[in-house]
Amino acid sequence: MAVERTLLLVKPDGVQRRLVGTILSRFESKGLKIVGLKMLNVTPELARKHYEEHVEKPFYPLLEEFITASPVVAIAAEGVDAISVARTMMGSTNGREAAPGTIRGDLSQSRQMNLVHGSDSPEAAKRELDIYFSAAELLDYDLNLSVYLA
Ligand code: PPS
Repeated sequence: MAVERTLLLVKPDGVQRRLVGTILSRFESKGLKIVGLKMLNVTPELARKHYEEHVEKPFYPLLEEFITASPVVAIAAEGVDAISVARTMMGSTNGREAAPGTIRGDLSQSRQMNLVHGSDSPEAAKRELDIYFSAAELLDYDLNLSVYLA
């Protein structure tokens, strides 16, 4: 068990379908702590950095076209085993195969337009958080629920 930070994206289809609140709420309700949040346009250069391991794959041109087409929401989330917890919540890459109860299983029918991205390892999380957030944009704070829920 380790406290980790992970990079999550609500992809353009999630923004277009007005599912930002729904998706953010699922991660928050699970208990992940939001430590960074922004909306941005992914440029082709940023897309190539993010998806560097896929750039040579046949599907990459369509993936770049999709991810740069309209804004995404980038989320830095923190929690115990946050990387695997978020990946489990997202479900399999292909929305048609993702289990019911997962974000993709409930809300997506596509391999490309699958609503969310989540880092798949501690190394990827560090690399991807560095791509999307500056150090100053990642916040350290305590959740002090007893004060607000008393
Ligand atoms: S792979 O090929 O097994 O490494 O693919 P995977 O790790 O499952 O997903 C890679 C990301 O590319 C997006 N994408 C596709 N993957 C495979 N095939 C096709 N045709 C395809 N089109 C798009 C897929 O949604 C994954 O995005 P992320 O953001 O990493 O979830």
